[in-house]
Amino acid sequence: MKPIIALNLKAYPESLGKRGLELCQIAAEVSLLSGVRIIAAPQAVDLREAALACPDVFAQHVDSAPQGACTGMLTAEAIRDAGAKGSLLNHSEHRLPENEIAKTIARLKEAGLESMLCAKDAEESGRLAKYEPTFIAVEPPELIGSGISVSTAKPEVVRSSVEAVASVNSTPVLCGAGVSNAEDVRKAIELGAAGVLLASAFVKAKDPKALLASMAEAAARF
Ligand code: G3P
Repeated sequence: MKPIIALNLKAYPESLGKRGLELCQIAAEVSLLSGVRIIAAPQAVDLREAALACPDVFAQHVDSAPQGACTGMLTAEAIRDAGAKGSLLNHSEHRLPENEIAKTIARLKEAGLESMLCAKDAEESGRLAKYEPTFIAVEPPELIGSGISVSTAKPEVVRSSVEAVASVNSTPVLCGAGVSNAEDVRKAIELGAAGVLLASAFVKAKDPKALLASMAEAAARF
């Protein structure tokens, strides 16, 4: 499988509305030029418009609730209707109990959508692999937003998560937290990751297109 770059736009002011749509457009352009799959996860209110700008968008979170009388819930069918291909789940900033994780992955599958399940360490990555999400993304919480890449500062987390998941099934494992440049991407893939999940370095970059293009070039070499 070719490496993947996933961009979580979080709830940053720099990724809201028009600015978020521009970031999604950049993701689409760089993906097309590089041949690397680039997933963009915009803010929920921007999802429908973002899906017009970028063919590969995910929600940042989805609820397990069914369609119907469920006020305020974001359903799998709603994100699919908005054009999303899938959803992040259980991000460190939006943790879910394990029974919710299981239900939500099942709901996404029923809706024909992909899931990128976040985990905080190797133990959790291995334990949650049985739910067979499309991807697992391991992110040590203490490095999130730090600018210090997991692939440099904690390579053992990447290696041991890949091993823990591989002992259960073949779910591809991405890594994230602090990923900031092409070298961080290269190291992550060398450690066995199927790609990277990043946020602040891209969202807050002076030139997000140049940064993403350099990361995609590094990923495309594998
Ligand atoms: O989901 C991506 C993430 O939590 C990592 O954030 O800002 O360290 O790239 P960041």
